[in-house]
Amino acid sequence: MTEVTIVGAGLMGHALALVYVLGGHRVRLTDSNPTTLMMARQRMESALGCLLDGGEVDDTWTVARLDASLRLCPTLKEAVDDTEVVVEAITEDPPAKERLYAELAELMHPAAILASNTSHLDVFPLIPASLQRRSVITHWYSPPYLIDLVDIAAGPDTDPAVVERVRASISAMGKRPLVFRNFIPGYVANRIQTAISREVYSLLDDGLVTPHEVDHSIVHGLALRFLVLGHLAKADFAGLPLSQHSLANREDDLSRAMRANSETLDQLIADGHTGVLSGRGFFDWSDHSPDDLFRERDRRLIGLKQTMRNLGGPLRGK
Ligand SMILES: NC(=O)c1ccc[n+]([C@@H]2O[C@H](COP(=O)([O-])OP(=O)(O)OC[C@H]3O[C@@H](n4cnc5c(N)ncnc54)[C@H](O)[C@@H]3O)[C@@H](O)[C@H]2O)c1
Repeated sequence: MTEVTIVGAGLMGHALALVYVLGGHRVRLTDSNPTTLMMARQRMESALGCLLDGGEVDDTWTVARLDASLRLCPTLKEAVDDTEVVVEAITEDPPAKERLYAELAELMHPAAILASNTSHLDVFPLIPASLQRRSVITHWYSPPYLIDLVDIAAGPDTDPAVVERVRASISAMGKRPLVFRNFIPGYVANRIQTAISREVYSLLDDGLVTPHEVDHSIVHGLALRFLVLGHLAKADFAGLPLSQHSLANREDDLSRAMRANSETLDQLIADGHTGVLSGRGFFDWSDHSPDDLFRERDRRLIGLKQTMRNLGGPLRGK
C-alpha cells in the first residue's frame, strides 16, 4: 500500500482517487476549489455504487471503507506532506501546471514521484530540475475506473526505475499501462481520436451528414470491430491491399479535415450547448440528469467489459 496524492478533484481527479483507493492505496485528494473537493467525494460514492451494482468490485467495498482510505485535504501542503506519489490532474493550462510544479518541488518528499495526467502537453519543460528524475506522465482515460488503458511517458531525464515502478503499480491495479519510449503529444489513442474528430467535423460543417448519422456509423460500423480486433488486426482480416487502395484513394478528400476549428462546434458552444452537463451538445440530453446519464454510461461499459472478458478478450495474432 502506498500513500498517494491526487491534485485536482475534477472530472478526472475524483475518478483517479477512486481508482487508487480501489487499488489498495491510501489517497489524499485536494483541489483549489473547495466546492469541487466536496462534490468529488459524492461523485466517488456514486461511481463506487455503479461498480458494486455491476459486480466490478466485491461487496466489501462499502462507503465506510472508501472513507477510511480517503482524506480530503483543503491545502496542497497537507495533501502532499510525505506521500510517495503525487498525481497531477489539474486544468490543462501550462502556466497553472508550471506554478503547481514549482510549489510541489518545495513540498513533496524528496523521493516522491510526480505523475501528470496531461492529455496533450509536453509537461517536462515546465517541471523544476529537482523533480525531473522522478517525473513521469501517466495519462488515463475517462472514466479511469472502467477504461483500462494508461499511457506512460518518461521525460528526457526520468529515471528508468521510476518508470518501471509506476508501470508496475498501475499494472498491479488491474490496468493496461503502455510505456512509450518518447513523449508523443496525444499518445496513440488520443491522436486517433483527433484524426476521427477532424474528419467528423469536416463532414458536419459541409452539411453532408447529421450527428445521428456520424454516431450510427461509428457505433454500428466501426466500434464493434475495434473492440474485437483493434485497427491493424482488422486490416489483416480485410487483406492489406484494401488498406493500400484506401490510402491511395483521393476521392474522399480528407484534406479539408485539417482545419483547426469547426463552425458546427463553435456555434454549439456559443449557444451554451456544451454537452451532457449543460443538458445539450450535439444531442438533447435534458430528459435525464447528468448524474443519471453518467451512471447509465458506466452500467453499459461494465456490461461490455464483462462480455468481452467472457469472450476471451480481443482476437490477437502473434
Ligand atoms: N477530461 C478528460 O476526459 C481527460 C482525460 C484524460 C486526461 N485529462 C487531463 O486531466 C487533467 C484534468 O482534467 P479534468 O477534465 O479533470 O479537468 P477539470 O476541469 O474537470 O478539473 C481540474 C481541476 O483542477 C483544479 N485546479 C486547478 N488548478 C489547481 C491547483 N493549482 N491546485 C489544485 N487544484 C487545481 C480545478 O479547480 C478543477 O477542479 C488535464 O490535464 C486533462 O488534460 C482529462
